[in-house]
Amino acid sequence: MTDDAAIRDRIDALLAAMTPEEKAGQLTQYFFFSLPPEAQDDAAIGLDVAAQPRAVEAALARGGAGSLLFVTDPAEINRLQRLTVEGNRHGIPALFGFDVIHGLRTILPVPIAMAASWDPATIEAGQAVAAAEARAVGIHWAFAPMVDIARDPRWGRIVEGAGEDPYLGAAVAAAQVRGFQGDRIGTPGRIVAGPKHFAGYGYGLGGRDYDEVSLADADLWNVVLPPFAAAIEAGAGNVMTAYMGLNGIPATGNRWLLTDVLRDALGFEGFTVSDANAARNLVAHGFAPDLREAAVRALTAGLDMEMAIADPAFDRLPAALADGAVPQEALDVAVRRVLEVKLRLGLLDDPYVDEARAAAVLADPAHREVAREAARRSAVLLRNEGDLLPLDPAALRSVAVLGPLADSKRDTLGPWVFDFDLDETVTVAAGLRARLGDDVRVDVAPGIPVGQRVFPSMFDMFGGNAPSDPEGFDPEAELERAVRLAADADVAVVVLGEWQNMIGEAASRSSLELPGRQLELLQAVVATGTPTVLLVMNGRPLDLRWAAEHVPAILDVWYPGSQGGAAVADLLVGDAAPGGRLPFTWPRTVGQVPMVYSHLTSHEPENQGRRYWDDASTPLFPFGHGLGYARFAYGEVELDAAEIDLDGVVEASVRVRNTSDRDGEEVVQLYLHQRSGTAARPVRELKGFRRVAIPAGQERRVAFRVGPAERRYWNAAARSWVRDPAVFDVAIGGDSTAGFGGAFTVRG
Ligand code: BGC
Repeated sequence: MTDDAAIRDRIDALLAAMTPEEKAGQLTQYFFFSLPPEAQDDAAIGLDVAAQPRAVEAALARGGAGSLLFVTDPAEINRLQRLTVEGNRHGIPALFGFDVIHGLRTILPVPIAMAASWDPATIEAGQAVAAAEARAVGIHWAFAPMVDIARDPRWGRIVEGAGEDPYLGAAVAAAQVRGFQGDRIGTPGRIVAGPKHFAGYGYGLGGRDYDEVSLADADLWNVVLPPFAAAIEAGAGNVMTAYMGLNGIPATGNRWLLTDVLRDALGFEGFTVSDANAARNLVAHGFAPDLREAAVRALTAGLDMEMAIADPAFDRLPAALADGAVPQEALDVAVRRVLEVKLRLGLLDDPYVDEARAAAVLADPAHREVAREAARRSAVLLRNEGDLLPLDPAALRSVAVLGPLADSKRDTLGPWVFDFDLDETVTVAAGLRARLGDDVRVDVAPGIPVGQRVFPSMFDMFGGNAPSDPEGFDPEAELERAVRLAADADVAVVVLGEWQNMIGEAASRSSLELPGRQLELLQAVVATGTPTVLLVMNGRPLDLRWAAEHVPAILDVWYPGSQGGAAVADLLVGDAAPGGRLPFTWPRTVGQVPMVYSHLTSHEPENQGRRYWDDASTPLFPFGHGLGYARFAYGEVELDAAEIDLDGVVEASVRVRNTSDRDGEEVVQLYLHQRSGTAARPVRELKGFRRVAIPAGQERRVAFRVGPAERRYWNAAARSWVRDPAVFDVAIGGDSTAGFGGAFTVRG
């Protein structure tokens, strides 16, 4: 349904006929778990697994639940939908949501990797595949993209976002929303996008997941909100609230945040959902005295739908309405928003999914190709001394593929996936074997055992993890065998990083070191003298100080997804070239975090790199860094005006020449620095980028518009957006250390 007036009439009619209980039901979303038997008695989820689904089914059948999450089987979705439609008096179907974070069956590289492609088209194509697969099984809505800016890599959820920068983050957020939704809610084969977590969740104290957030006004508006604004601008139909308190007020009961900021300032018109149990948890926060008050405060703050496992706080809304604690209008507005999305999706006319079609969509080979291309485009070549990469397959006789992540299917996929197919997952070892064929000997060995978390992950119950102590694994003998294989090989490819359950939600760390004995393995392999390539499988920067000095080639492959190993093989032998760039500043050590490129100038700026007495206060690799197999030379920055007025636009351009004999891609980045103003401004800020293909020996002119939008910022003293008359320096180059090459003046 797309006709606004018809939608309004239909909603008016439904609202007039619904009881308060039915209205509260529309605002309630339940988890519906179909967990593997071994997880059924998992105390971690605090759930009576046998009783909960029955209670949810009863709620659906009486109109007491408007939405479910965590069901992915089309037949099961149809069964539950039938219960819902036939059970409630108005025949209002349920909305099925799920964490479609980086693919459903076809697993794409993790979101931080997709961001590292610096390529909105790749990102949009990836989420369009995810949407097609999700919609085919009956899912209507993704709890994605996560657009939280992350500046502290101790926080595990850095892997789910686009990194540290609001400009890149906004571009990535918008591309994901377009991929999920298409150009409107209800586009066939697409699903509703739900940017999350509103807002500030990436700023938890100490990088600890769920911990409180104190966020300066300037950071909220200039850094945290722009990706949300971009997602909303792109049409996102939903926004999820955050778990934690923002400046002392829990986000899910924060009226200023959910109404003044989200609705009035950002113009969001869709529906909001709480994070899991976050409405109930207003009590745990010591904010609401009881669940009834939690429901009242959440709803009146601007929360439309509560996500709950059991006993939702919103069950108390009818009683609160009856005694006047909740205005009728507040309840109706929320129900209106939920019904609207159901109507726009066409669910009231066609609530069921075509079960017969699902399998074919999930098996679509075109989806695997999108995943493979995305993995190729997201890898970041951090170092390549002596052009060790690409390898020449014709000159190779043997390769040793080593490390515990080299042949681990589950880890190759990364965190936050549930419906993957391990049979079709290609590891680095398998990808190299397939690419190199029978003429090259490929030896594979883990070298060391699987690393373990000190405190287990709640996600482990979803299966697929390698056993921690595989039978007969002799650590010393395995290490020795791996080193021997390295010594006997022409090249050693060592795959190290974090196991997938060490990153993601509830996966914060107090260190950034390679877990387990991985560094020891790497050092022993390098000591053999065999040329060594380090592949890093990660979602956060890790402490690579030793590797950055001693390992000639380092390629960050992230968690590259279903086709990851095939893509990595393409890159290693030069069938494709790495062109990704870091979406975050890579620190040397955990003691430096948080560290961002766009910091302010302060006292003694000349000593910026010497703020610690024991180590440089510069990054190991800067934001925007990434090498390729081609070489590029930048010409002078050209500006089409030296002076403009406050509303003016400057075109900044540069000629980029591929000086090598290989075709290649360069991510051309524009940084702006405002020399003075009504607030002190960052040393530089990304304000434009473009990933361009430039054939060998050729030149391209790349131009950017620097207009009022690129120059405005939130001034914390004025508490408003400002644009200052000032001199602006412009740098255009291949990473965030590019020198300033021009300046223009904005007149007052
Ligand atoms: C996470 C959300 C997620 C939800 C549903 C929560 O724990 O914070 O990002 O969408 O669970 O799985």
